[in-house]
Amino acid sequence: MTVATARAHPNIALVKYWGKRDRVLNLPAVPSLSLTLDRFRTRTTVVWGAEADAVELDGKVAPAPRAARVLALLDLVDPRRPPCRVVSESNFPVAAGLASSSSAFAALALAASAAAGADTDPTALSRLARRGSGSACRSLWGGFVEWPLGERPDGADCHGMPLAPATHWDVAMVVAIVSGAPKPMGSTEAMEHARRTSPCYPTWVRTASDDVASARAAVLSRDLERLGEVMESSTHKMHATLHTARPPLHYELPATIACLHAVRALRERGVGAWSTMDAGPNVKVLCERFDAAEVVVALSDHVERVEVLGPGGDPVLEPR
Ligand code: DP6
Repeated sequence: MTVATARAHPNIALVKYWGKRDRVLNLPAVPSLSLTLDRFRTRTTVVWGAEADAVELDGKVAPAPRAARVLALLDLVDPRRPPCRVVSESNFPVAAGLASSSSAFAALALAASAAAGADTDPTALSRLARRGSGSACRSLWGGFVEWPLGERPDGADCHGMPLAPATHWDVAMVVAIVSGAPKPMGSTEAMEHARRTSPCYPTWVRTASDDVASARAAVLSRDLERLGEVMESSTHKMHATLHTARPPLHYELPATIACLHAVRALRERGVGAWSTMDAGPNVKVLCERFDAAEVVVALSDHVERVEVLGPGGDPVLEPR
């Protein structure tokens, strides 16, 4: 029996991953670019060689479909693996809509590979984490991370790549928690629904590479206005594929829209703030760290809870 414990941070896409070209290998239809966050993290222990398979998430036995996703990742580490025990907890509310699957599968890939004595090179782990949840492949590095499309049909070149470390740029991501209610549809299903039924989906795919190129240049030159504009554009194009799907899907709630207007009003007052949303109603606002307090005040008029996060670091393995 061997045991390993890993910690990883969630990431927020600045240019979104939305749509798959291969559902079995989990290969994306578009490239994406993200920021790994600090403070929030998932901590996962894997016992490689237990009496029976067991998965515990946030203090409770995992529901069968979630346990199956976790165990499927262990099978990829070693198809002839022994029974394993996985215990995972996150220090942030799932309701925050902070892509908890990104930190969960990054921490699981690292803990499982270390416990199994397998490859723990971040690129190998990123390929593995991608199979659990696409966005997780970007959480294998801190700071700004790119996930290029790759060209190979087997997905060997489809993994995250560090663009700039957390220390590169002291931005803030201010999260307005609009609702903790269960989402109408999870991201895996929603992106497939958009791919099958939205007339906007081909435009979404066609314009994504240019968005990543622009965001990459903006990150490297620390140009917040350029990054904010491309982030908002990527967000609204992604949500347009949902608004135009059949039947349509709107993750936005009234308070979501109020927050988007508040961010625009901040900009009209000269505060550099830009918004993004993922597959949920919460609004995340990118700004310089010194503007975060003003952004919090503006969002607090519309939601009860606001969190301020900054760029976070790489996943770590806890010493034994
Ligand atoms: C809107 O990574 O959760 O957060 O690969 O099907 O598990 P699966 O999808 P997932 O999708 C994330 C979608 C997004 C945008 C992003 O994080 O890039």
